[in-house]
Amino acid sequence: MKSAHSYIQEHKERFLNELIELLKIPSISADSAYKNDVIKTAEVIKTSLLKAGCDTVEICETPGYPIVYGEKIIDKNLPTVLVYGHYDVQPPDPVELWDSPPFEPVIKKTELHPQGAIFARGSCDDKGQMYMHVKALEYMTNTGQLPCNVKFMIEGEEEVGSESLSWFVERNQDKLSNDVILISDTGMIANDIPSITTGLRGLSYVEVEVTGPNRDLHSGLYGGAVANPINILTKMIASLHDENNHITIPGFYDEVDELSKEERAKMAEAPFSKENYTKALAIEDVYGEAGYTTNERNSIRPTLDVNGIWGGYIGEGAKTVIASKAYAKISMRLVPNQDWKKITALFKSHFESIAPKGVKVVVKPHHGGQAYVTPIDSMGYQAAEKAYEATFGKTPIPQRSGGSIPIVSLFEKELKSKTILMGFGLDSDAIHSPNEHFGVWNYLKGIETIPQFYHYFTEIHSKQ
Ligand code: BES
Ligand code: MN
Ligand code: MN
Repeated sequence: MKSAHSYIQEHKERFLNELIELLKIPSISADSAYKNDVIKTAEVIKTSLLKAGCDTVEICETPGYPIVYGEKIIDKNLPTVLVYGHYDVQPPDPVELWDSPPFEPVIKKTELHPQGAIFARGSCDDKGQMYMHVKALEYMTNTGQLPCNVKFMIEGEEEVGSESLSWFVERNQDKLSNDVILISDTGMIANDIPSITTGLRGLSYVEVEVTGPNRDLHSGLYGGAVANPINILTKMIASLHDENNHITIPGFYDEVDELSKEERAKMAEAPFSKENYTKALAIEDVYGEAGYTTNERNSIRPTLDVNGIWGGYIGEGAKTVIASKAYAKISMRLVPNQDWKKITALFKSHFESIAPKGVKVVVKPHHGGQAYVTPIDSMGYQAAEKAYEATFGKTPIPQRSGGSIPIVSLFEKELKSKTILMGFGLDSDAIHSPNEHFGVWNYLKGIETIPQFYHYFTEIHSKQ
C-alpha cells in the first residue's frame, strides 16, 4: 500500500500546478466587479472534487455566492467527516505593495520557507489550505484508503461574513449531518512546532459616520467655531481605550470568560520570543492591554481596532477645509461568552452618547459572530493530535487563535458537532496583506497529515 508521503512525492508537481491554476482566478467576494470570477472558482472546485473521488458534487445556489457541496459515502455505519473551507479571497489592495502580481502565483524561497512558498492572494487563506483536503481525498480514494465517509462544503463568502452559508446550514441539517467538522483555515506556531487551533475569537464589525456642518467649510473662516468631524471622530476613537488600554465602553467586559490561573500558566508554556516577534514586524516594542502577555492579548482578550478612517482632503498639496463628514470602520474581536449582537448594541449607544452636540453620529453594524473554543478531550482533537504525531513526530500544542471564523459557532449550534481546526499556515504568511504566501512544505505536509486524521478518527470512533 502506498504511503501518503510517497504518493505526494510522485504527484507533487501536479499538486502545485493545480493550486497555481486555482490561485489565478481573482475570486474577491467583497468586490462585485469580480462576480464572474467568484462563480467560476466554484465550478473549478466542483470539477476538482469530482476528479478527487467524490460520488456527487453540486453547486448549491444561495441568495449570494454558491456553495460547493460534495460527498463520498462509503458505508452509512462509518463516521462522517465534514470538511469546510472557502474559495473566496480578500481584495489584494494595496496592489503596489506586492512584489509580484497577486493573481500571478510564483514560488520563491523565504527565510521561514527554504523549500519555497507560493506567493498569491488566497494561497494560505484559504485556497491553498482548502485544496490540501481535495488532494488528501484524491490520495485516499486512489489508493483505496478512505476509511470513512466524507462531505465537503466550500463557500464563497467567508471573507464577507458567510451570510449565505448560515442560510444554507439552517436549511440543510440532514444533508450536512456529520461526526466531526474539519477545517484548515488557521495557522500553527512554526514548521517545527506544530499546534492545533483550539479557539477563535468572535467579531463585531461596525462603521461610523460623523457629520458636522452641512457642507465642507473654509478652515480659516469657520475653523475654531464649529465642530470639525475629523477632530471629533479621532477624539471619540481615542477615548475608547484608557491609559491601561482597557476598552472604556460600559459593560464591554461584563460577560468575558476569564481564564483561571492554571489555564494562563498552561498557555504561557507555548514558545514565544518577543525578540523575534518585534523584529519580524520592525517595531521597538509590543503594545496592548496592561496585565496580559502578547499571546493573551491576541487570543483570549477582547479588543477594539480601527480598520480604516477617512474624510477631508487627501489629494496632493494642501487644501484648507473642514470636511462635513468623517468615517471609520471599527472591529471588535470578542472572546467566549461575549454576545456579538449585545456588544454591537453597547458600542452603538456608547459611541452616540459621547458625541458632542455639534455633530451627528450614525453607527452602522456590519457582520459579526461568536467566539469558539473546542475541548481537547474530544474524539476529533485526539485524532488530530495523533495525526500530527504521525507526520511531524511531535505532539502538537493546543493554541487559541486571535482570528475569527464566525460560522464555526453556528456549526456547533445547528449541526451539533465539534470543529477541529488543523491549520498549516504561519502568522508570517501575510494573509490579508500584500505578498500573501503559503509554504510548499506546509501545503504538502497538510496533504500528508489529513489522511492520518481520517484514519485515527475512524479508529477512535469505532471504539466508542
Ligand atoms: N482564515 C481567516 C481566519 C483566521 C486566520 C483564523 C488565521 C485564525 C488564524 C478567515 O478567512 C478570516 O479572515 N476571518 C475574518 C473574519 C471574517 C468574518 C471576515 C477575520 O478574522 O478577520
Ligand atoms: Mn480564511
Ligand atoms: Mn481571511
